[in-house]
Amino acid sequence: MSATTAAAPKPKYAPPKVADQKMFVGGKLVDAQSGKTFDTINPSTGQVICRVAEGDKADVDLAVKAARKAFESGPWGKMNPSDRGRLIHKLADAIETHKDELAALESLDNGKPIADALAADLPLTLQCYRYYAGWADKITGQTIPVDGNYFCYTRHEPIGVVGQIIPWNFPLLMQAWKWAPALACGNTLVLKPAEQTPLTALWVARLAQEVGFPDGVVNVVPGYGPTAGAALASHLDVDKIAFTGETTTGKIVMTAAAQSNLKRVSLELGGKSPNVVFADADLDAAIEGAYFGLFFNQGQCCVAGSRLFVQEKVYDEFVHKMVAKTKGRKVGDPFDPATEQGPQVSQEQFDRVMGYIDAGRNEGAKLLLGGNRVGQTGYFIEPTVFADVRDEMTIATEEIFGPVMNILKFKDADEVIERGNRTFYGLAAAVWTRDVKKAIRLSNSLRAGTVWVNCYDVFDTAAPFGGFKMSGIGRELGQYALQLYTEVKTVYMAT
Ligand code: NAI
Ligand code: MG
Repeated sequence: MSATTAAAPKPKYAPPKVADQKMFVGGKLVDAQSGKTFDTINPSTGQVICRVAEGDKADVDLAVKAARKAFESGPWGKMNPSDRGRLIHKLADAIETHKDELAALESLDNGKPIADALAADLPLTLQCYRYYAGWADKITGQTIPVDGNYFCYTRHEPIGVVGQIIPWNFPLLMQAWKWAPALACGNTLVLKPAEQTPLTALWVARLAQEVGFPDGVVNVVPGYGPTAGAALASHLDVDKIAFTGETTTGKIVMTAAAQSNLKRVSLELGGKSPNVVFADADLDAAIEGAYFGLFFNQGQCCVAGSRLFVQEKVYDEFVHKMVAKTKGRKVGDPFDPATEQGPQVSQEQFDRVMGYIDAGRNEGAKLLLGGNRVGQTGYFIEPTVFADVRDEMTIATEEIFGPVMNILKFKDADEVIERGNRTFYGLAAAVWTRDVKKAIRLSNSLRAGTVWVNCYDVFDTAAPFGGFKMSGIGRELGQYALQLYTEVKTVYMAT
């Protein structure tokens, strides 16, 4: 190697430099009415990335006004459905053009490994926009053969101005799940991104502007939940609120919707998903799936398989192999392409997860691996495995949202169905077995919106997703999401 080429190679992925951010209202980047800003933090270092305009009620009012105007009188309402679809396609193309930069920004703001952002968040985001772009001109009603001399038909019309509140675990993807069906159905919207991760949403809003979305169709108001979020949920001129986050926050949002104007509500909330491994399963596949199903995204997944039930016959072998596998998990700098686990998103989440680890220890679960902080800066936590977990322990009942695996032992199908359903959540479940009868029995009996058989964390935009019980209301994705963003109008015409 010559001296001139010996200089340190530029890393393939580096944390981007980010300027202070305004909010996006009515097609313009604007400061908060109050002039206030808040810091968004790099969870790998605890350092400030930049300052972001802090929205509150006055800003939500302006954004809702802009969205109302765009809905009632702008070019959006008159646009051909196929042109609306083409605009959504153009937004997807623009996101694709910037996919490396967006992945890097997501990684910086959230802490997720760049490898995950590139392999999961970005492709799923693109798939979502493109799937719903295709729906824009295929949203049809019915003609109904009613008695008498009437021509009767239904129209599936946009609801109007939609408020959307999203969390920090998959910022770009949660924005896509909210925006793509809402726009395909012809609504206008105001999004409040999570205060921990506002950056990519603002970039996507600017891209929407560049590709030609009319002013006011999409608006992004960053800010905190009890201020900006609450203003959106209780706004009298918002026709629908869509929320993803914690179950207790979902209740607050639904109450605000009820007490203001009975706006439509859809909720995607937490989970405590049972993942059931029978002794007759392909054990290596089950270990792989259970590992991914818990540790992916630093454990910050609503569907995390955080009650891992293993049948007693293979319990010891399973636990042994799982610990061995988890020991190899690479924790560190999200910008290192080899990193498998980055930091938790915030100090608050770090403290919360460490609190659950303490609870596991104190309540007598067997800590086999991890349990500690990694390093002195940032919010890194060791991949942690608890065995001999019992149903009533805190770590087996509450959503941990961190890299903490809980393994429980079970005897037979009857028992594990009963224990699996003993939760107020019902988001997801999984079963690992080679016996097709058991697979069908469990997938019918587990009360959850999604059941995976011999797989975990499979997501496709075409298939619906949402929760039973206190895991939510409504189904996002697939054709089902169109119901969340349309009103049905019945027309009788005397003939
Ligand atoms: P959160 O539910 O408080 O936050 C989610 C979103 O709701 C954010 O945009 C936040 O600003 C907003 N929000 C908060 N309070 C609000 C209010 N009063 N009115 C309107 N909007 C409000 O969740 P948080 O505090 O970030 O995380 C706490 C726990 O929630 C996590 O440990 C995890 O267990 C769970 N969670 C579940 C998620 C899921 O995907 N189901 C996503 C994020 C968190
Ligand atoms: Mg909260």
